[in-house]
Amino acid sequence: MRHLNTLTPKRQLGLAIALSSLLLSSPAQASPAATNASNANSSSPRVWISLGDAAYQALQKLPRLKARSETSVAALASGPAPANSSGAVLEREAALEQVHLVEVDEGGLADLSEAVHESLRRCGGYLFHASKEEGLRSLQRLSRPTPALLAASKPSYVIDQQALVTPMLSQMQASNIGQTILDLSAFTNRYYTSSSGVAASNWLKTRWSNLAAGRSDITVEQFSHPAWAQKSVIATFKGTDNASEVVVLGAHLDSIAGANTGESTRAPGADDDASGVASLTEIIRSLVASNFKPRRTLKFMAYAAEEVGLRGSQEIAKSFAAMNANVVGVIQLDMTNYKGAINDIYLFTDYTDAGQNQFLTQLIQTYLPTLKIGSDRCGYACSDHASWNAQGYATSMPFESSFAADNPYIHSANDTYANSGNQADHSLKFARMALAYAVELGADGPAVTPPADKTETFSGSLTLNQTRSFGPFKLKAGGTLKASSSGTGDIDLFVKKGAPASSSSYDCKSDGSTASESCSVNSTANTDVYVLLKGYTAGSYKLTVSYTPQ
Ligand code: BES
Ligand code: ZN
Repeated sequence: MRHLNTLTPKRQLGLAIALSSLLLSSPAQASPAATNASNANSSSPRVWISLGDAAYQALQKLPRLKARSETSVAALASGPAPANSSGAVLEREAALEQVHLVEVDEGGLADLSEAVHESLRRCGGYLFHASKEEGLRSLQRLSRPTPALLAASKPSYVIDQQALVTPMLSQMQASNIGQTILDLSAFTNRYYTSSSGVAASNWLKTRWSNLAAGRSDITVEQFSHPAWAQKSVIATFKGTDNASEVVVLGAHLDSIAGANTGESTRAPGADDDASGVASLTEIIRSLVASNFKPRRTLKFMAYAAEEVGLRGSQEIAKSFAAMNANVVGVIQLDMTNYKGAINDIYLFTDYTDAGQNQFLTQLIQTYLPTLKIGSDRCGYACSDHASWNAQGYATSMPFESSFAADNPYIHSANDTYANSGNQADHSLKFARMALAYAVELGADGPAVTPPADKTETFSGSLTLNQTRSFGPFKLKAGGTLKASSSGTGDIDLFVKKGAPASSSSYDCKSDGSTASESCSVNSTANTDVYVLLKGYTAGSYKLTVSYTPQ
């Protein structure tokens, strides 16, 4: 059991660093502003970082940094407080914390990492800014609430895919997750600049590609980051009919062990965050095994360079926002295999979306009813969900324990599979919850299909037993689809969900002795509906298909 210092809990020291838009400032990339501001007495370039109060205090004790404070703001770390499982609104901790923008000597940053790591048992704790202007923009964003969702659509959060989800959950295996954790932690480290960090990215790309073999609608790519060698890995399931709406499931690929992690430093990162990447891997395997084809696009992301300031995910989230990508939901799995507290899954309330957190609560209650749900907060931008949150997207961060009772071995050579008990039962809960999230959100189509007045006109003669098939019409969960015909002769009408109708296979038929027939179907799940007209006498016919939402 780890030592808990109740007088100085980590959250007091939490670095309320939300997100900046930034690249690592390296000498080669230093902006003109950086050059102008360089301290004439210093051989090290001046760079800008933002950091919370505690780290700022640590920094002031470090002479090598030659810190000069630019400005500071009171940061709002979170959105509104979510309701807990019993519907009560959870108490919201004070969300305001001072964040400082500081100009420092880049050469002293390792000292700061070390000091923060020593005193806060956290790495880094500051964010780089490519220029002073970028830093100021970042602070400006911090001083007002999370931006409203820009272009992103709000999903309905309806839970209606039991027929698909339940069998998939039962075939997911903890042992598969455990094997992937072992494979990833076998790399010396997965540090963002090390050769083994690069090799781990390549290995994961191959692993995910192999899982997706034979599916032309799944692509696996690496996302290159200009400032460092390790690439993020992204697997995309292209949506069948609602592809522009995107659901992101993320974890981070990199690992770290102390401020001076280098080529040969051992940093297995089994829990932080091989456990998250391994959970995603088991979700991909299960979706493919069930031949699941989402209507929305699903993207699985293993981010590079999280441990050094959320840098990989920031570049990706910013690139999606720049394209106005319609990302309808983001979930982050960072540390899933160490059960440090009484509840099974803690939904973190800061830098996340209350509505989506409520959806996750309902998913857990529906599909994993034995699990106990808790809530907590990091108090600062502790993982990649914060990068998406900063761009205005709805995020969630389900965590392995309360913040205070997390895995004590992270960021060290001891973050091993053995120190999570040589099993992945805890991770399996997160993988199952996130699979339910992927299928339920992924299965959703456009808000209303077909349009309320969709009319299919057919003119011509249908002779005895001649048929004409229409569809598929996309019927959204809870809606009713009605097909009706009119005309001059005598036809029959057949409607079927999920497959083309025939006169012997249908969910509804209308076979009166005129051209005026009508048939309705409704569904609790999103489904395709097909309509069949079958002639009895020659005539001219009109078919109208209308849709009534729930
Ligand atoms: N997995 C951790 C975040 C974490 C640790 C959350 C413990 C909850 C409890 C993540 O990889 C990490 O270390 N994040 C950094 C911040 C980041 C901006 C460098 C941290 O927490 O210091
Ligand atoms: Zn982590």
